Amino acid sequence: MTLVEIEQLLDQSFVAAKGALSGARNAAELEAARVQFLGQKGFIQAAKKSVGQLTVVDEKKRAGKLCNDRDRELQEAYQHNLSRIEQQDRAAALAERIDVTLPGRRSRRGRRHPLTTTCDDILAVLAGLGFQPAEGPEVEHDFYNFEALNMPSDHPARDMQDTFYVDAGARNDVVLRTHTSPVQARTMLASGKPPIRVSCFGRVYRKDDDPTHSPMFHQIEGIYVDKEVTFADLKGTLQLFAERIFAPGVKIRMRPSFFPFTEPSVEVDVSCVACGGIGHGGSSAADDGRCRICKGTGFLEIMGAGMVDPEVFRACKLDPDAVTGFAFGIGIERVALLRYGIADIRLLYENDERFLSQFVG
Ligand code: PHE
Repeated sequence: MTLVEIEQLLDQSFVAAKGALSGARNAAELEAARVQFLGQKGFIQAAKKSVGQLTVVDEKKRAGKLCNDRDRELQEAYQHNLSRIEQQDRAAALAERIDVTLPGRRSRRGRRHPLTTTCDDILAVLAGLGFQPAEGPEVEHDFYNFEALNMPSDHPARDMQDTFYVDAGARNDVVLRTHTSPVQARTMLASGKPPIRVSCFGRVYRKDDDPTHSPMFHQIEGIYVDKEVTFADLKGTLQLFAERIFAPGVKIRMRPSFFPFTEPSVEVDVSCVACGGIGHGGSSAADDGRCRICKGTGFLEIMGAGMVDPEVFRACKLDPDAVTGFAFGIGIERVALLRYGIADIRLLYENDERFLSQFVG
């Protein structure tokens, strides 16, 4: 090609090339234009080859410069359109993903289980009264669960507790603890030196299963042993405890009862949290007017308690003539059902989020 032909080629094709590179509407069109005009077989490459064949130095220079100028301009047009198309693609992809009319996604926060809240509250009240937390095993020896608590193997009181026995090979003295009271015995034996003031929280097991009983439930035990601990101390402690856990002004009532490990023993009731102790009327009244929660009695049973039996002190190597003490055992489920007005104990274990999300805490 002569210089003139080269110039013509560059001029003619340039307009079409620029139009195609700048006007491509998407990545595919742009790539096709790039291959056609700027690729190996494009006119720029053809012109460059011809420049090499020119013999006159001046002409070579002129044609070479023209080639490069056109090349650069087209490359720029290409790059410019390329970024425009990329941006457009990105925006399209985003537009597909973001629907601004969608309601925001709420981040769901966990809550404490009502049993945990109840338990923590009870332990906090007891800690405020000087009870130190203690622990014991759930798989327990007959000795601590029964024997040390004044329930020898032939004692009829063992029937009160529907015990699960653990298959422990040749041994037949391993049980799932039926109450938290074995921790009393363990603590007294381990410490050996009053004053002893501990609380123990944990799971306990009994063969029981209905709307108000579960085969596994939780108790908190409190025990206080010292010189001259009296029944009045027990009563004062439990009155304060009830007011802190339920509401200021609740009354407690003690009814004579029996536990082999305490003497005297009592069943402790609090005035009904639903009807205020009246037994009828108000929002908790059933069709017959009686309070649905306390069944018209005005009181709710929440725990067993009593003065530590001298036999227990003896079994735990303490001198019953030198020390006295009181103990109490609270069913945590029972307290939670009453505090929150829950009708069926099994709801506490089903992990149904619709149920659990109602509790703030
Ligand atoms: N351990 C008894 C029970 O589970 C409760 C209790 C504890 C009673 C301490 C008196 C003293 O029923």
